[in-house]
Amino acid sequence: TKTGLDYKVADLGLAEWGRKEIELAEHEMPGLMSVRKRYAKDQPLKGERVMGSLHMTIQTAVLIETLADLGADVRWVSCNIFSTQDHAAAAVVVGKDGTPDDPKGVPVYAWKGETLEEYWWCTQQALDFGNGNGPTQIVDDGGDATLLIHKGVEFEKAGKVPSPDTTNNAEFKVVLQLLAEIQKDSKDYWQKLAADCAGVSEETTTGVHRLYEMEKAGTLLFPAINVNDSVTKSKFDNSYGCRHSLIDGLNRASDVMIGGKTAVVCGYGEVGKGSAQAFKGQGCRVIITEIDPICALQAAMEGFEVKPLEDVIGEADIFITTTGNFDIITAEHMSKMKHRALVGNIGHFDNEIDMAGLEKIPGIKRRNIKPQYDEFIFPDGHSVMVLAEGRLLNLGCATGHPSFVMSASFTNQTMAQIELAQNRSAYEKKVYMLPKKLDEEVARLHLDHLGVKLTKLTKEQADYIGVPIEGPYKPEHYRY
Ligand code: NAI
Repeated sequence: TKTGLDYKVADLGLAEWGRKEIELAEHEMPGLMSVRKRYAKDQPLKGERVMGSLHMTIQTAVLIETLADLGADVRWVSCNIFSTQDHAAAAVVVGKDGTPDDPKGVPVYAWKGETLEEYWWCTQQALDFGNGNGPTQIVDDGGDATLLIHKGVEFEKAGKVPSPDTTNNAEFKVVLQLLAEIQKDSKDYWQKLAADCAGVSEETTTGVHRLYEMEKAGTLLFPAINVNDSVTKSKFDNSYGCRHSLIDGLNRASDVMIGGKTAVVCGYGEVGKGSAQAFKGQGCRVIITEIDPICALQAAMEGFEVKPLEDVIGEADIFITTTGNFDIITAEHMSKMKHRALVGNIGHFDNEIDMAGLEKIPGIKRRNIKPQYDEFIFPDGHSVMVLAEGRLLNLGCATGHPSFVMSASFTNQTMAQIELAQNRSAYEKKVYMLPKKLDEEVARLHLDHLGVKLTKLTKEQADYIGVPIEGPYKPEHYRY
């Protein structure tokens, strides 16, 4: 391990404010706090080096301190250049017992408004536990930490990092530059890192998608736990979390009246369902775009119109992408929108909206209103208002999901980390889900806080439907 506390955050002076909000968040995170209490004595993560790449928010601070309380040596970065809450980052570095002059917490490399170069540098710093050691376990959100290691290994084995000129993707150029720099000094840095890593637990749909692709291609270098598809994660965080934080992001950025307007939600998966509900709740007319007939039918049954984007491009006031896919809203789409239409993305990556294409339109002007809120003025005089430069707006323009829903997600994350530490030999280089019993347990831990009282199954009833009294209550194929 490194000596002294290394870190890079915006301002340790914000730690006191961060600590107050962390304490309030702890009250709203009963699942995570009960896991913390239950395992504090056993220290199941003792000896583990846990690297996290997940939005450095107040809620994540509670996760980080839980992992540390369970014995882990933790290092952290944000998984998005705009999502860090600087007071949260400061409080984590200072720690419960430290001061800004004598920080005693966890090394964090994150601040709001990183450049892409800084972002990937931070990721590499968090992967470096000193003495050539990497993490033994990773908490990933979107898969960037996992990607860096996998690309590093791939190019080390090939003996050469491709030139940045070989890609048009601005972000991947940065990754290639960073990897070339490291490869200059060491020929097996990433291979050692990958060999030491016992596994990753992945937070989101997009990251999980990347993991299954690697599993299929046979290139996955360590076991992975798909936290996203725990029912108590994707059916709650992705849907109810976005139902809360989508509106928060729109309001903090634009403060434009939402009620009475027409909103288009692209994609009606978990995030799309929560987003559409939020707009409905605000009194919007909601239009959905979908490629999947099942999701399209679901949207219709909820009373939403379902149409291709092209059919409604000139009539909507707000456009939100939730697909995890790319090129959903193109520059051409934006050229046909109403004057000052709001355009934002709540999916993981910024390529859902073709920002690069928008910036390249001849004669287009960008007028910054405030951080993470820009007006793009077309040569014909009409403009679109873009939130968070096309990056996920709920974390870019607001503070992401509230604590209670993140408690369910992060209880799953913590259980996944404990599982990787305790049953290491049981896992191959594949993608695994947490058991349903655990999913039910996570839900159970959140009932009291809401005053929910369960009905008890009688022995006879349990036998009649063929489930154990103590659960699990549903078969694996049940969809909730
Ligand atoms: P999902 O797979 O449940 O939903 C995506 C939907 O988009 C699917 O129904 C799919 O059919 C649809 N879709 C795909 N291509 C489309 C196209 N060209 N046009 C219209 N619809 C299309 O995934 P989920 O869980 O809703 O996640 C979506 C994205 O949001 C992912 O990138 C995920 O990582 C991210 N996410 C963001 C959160 C946030 O706080 N901002 C929270 C949770 C997830």
